[in-house]
Amino acid sequence: MIPDRVTLVDVGPRDGLQNEKQPVDTAVKIDLVHRLQAAGLREIEVTSYVSPKWVPQMADNAQVMAGIQRVAGNRYSVLVPNMLGLQAALAGGDATRPDEVVVFGAASQAFSRRNINCSIEESIERFAPVVAAALAAGLKVRSAISCAVGCPYQGEVTPDEVEHLVKLFKQIGVQHCGVADTIGVGTPRKVQAAMERALKHYPVSEVSGHFHDTYGQALANIYACLELGIHTFDTSVAGLGGCPYAKGATGNVATEDVVFMLQGMGIDTGIDLDALVDAGGYISGVLGRPPMSRAGKALLTKRAQVEA
Ligand code: HMG
Ligand code: MG
Repeated sequence: MIPDRVTLVDVGPRDGLQNEKQPVDTAVKIDLVHRLQAAGLREIEVTSYVSPKWVPQMADNAQVMAGIQRVAGNRYSVLVPNMLGLQAALAGGDATRPDEVVVFGAASQAFSRRNINCSIEESIERFAPVVAAALAAGLKVRSAISCAVGCPYQGEVTPDEVEHLVKLFKQIGVQHCGVADTIGVGTPRKVQAAMERALKHYPVSEVSGHFHDTYGQALANIYACLELGIHTFDTSVAGLGGCPYAKGATGNVATEDVVFMLQGMGIDTGIDLDALVDAGGYISGVLGRPPMSRAGKALLTKRAQVEA
């Protein structure tokens, strides 16, 4: 059942940087995307078209999209919370057009209200025309289901609550189901229970996992997903990330750590770990801190020892 090839979607430029208090230059964001694709990432979540009042760091969305030099065949995605966001994402024509948009809801009502200022049901009403318009424009549409195994406001979240949102997204035409542990409280069996609900409605090729690593469970959770045959994961270079509306949650699982684990298991990702570690070192340097990736740190230390 364990897949022999895994696709990683680096969400660092979006999930990673959205949580940074210090303004990050547009040129740095563009450079980060370039470094990730040079390391072999074929799917990159570049930015989000959300309200700049809610998330000021993503206000340069169109400039970032316009500035990236694309690699043919790669998939560049952006988050859109509503029709205004989709229209903004499409306004620049081919120069800024994403290949994929992500609509994001939550399995818990409380998180839905905090993150996108509406109930789950209202979010689906809001997303339905967005999904239809995105599909009509030829974009792929992916969902993110936040708080699939726990919510910072509600606490426990049940697989039934996850399946409820999976079904609603499916009904409005969303093509891919992303299951997210926003606050990193998931453990392998709980994660499998949530994933199994997604797999009831989507083929395994259209289900992915998105794990924040607050409690150090993300690699175990990814392994638990591999056992179900799931072979697509969101990860974040240098372990950047967080959601401004999920206080206390830390970054996504680091892309470097996941690549190290998968390589060790003989699973192909198409990613050059050395180049990825450089990308992680670059963005961590800009942000003024060491990479939050254990593998990244270890490999940089080893490199320094060899050079000394
Ligand atoms: P609202 O205030 O209810 O929206 O926010 P509104 O429709 O009443 O509009 C209020 C103002 O926002 C208006 O401007 C709109 O024009 C503007 P004003 O008239 O006051 O000047 N506005 C926008 N501007 C730019 N782009 C837009 C947009 N929409 C409205 N798209 C809204 C509702 C959804 C917009 C807001 O709550 C929002 O932007 N939320 C986004 C929060 C966010 O980005 N969270 C982080 C991403 S999700 C995440 O990290 C989780 C994930 O990683 C998975 C996981 O880990 O769980 C994906
Ligand atoms: Mg996230």
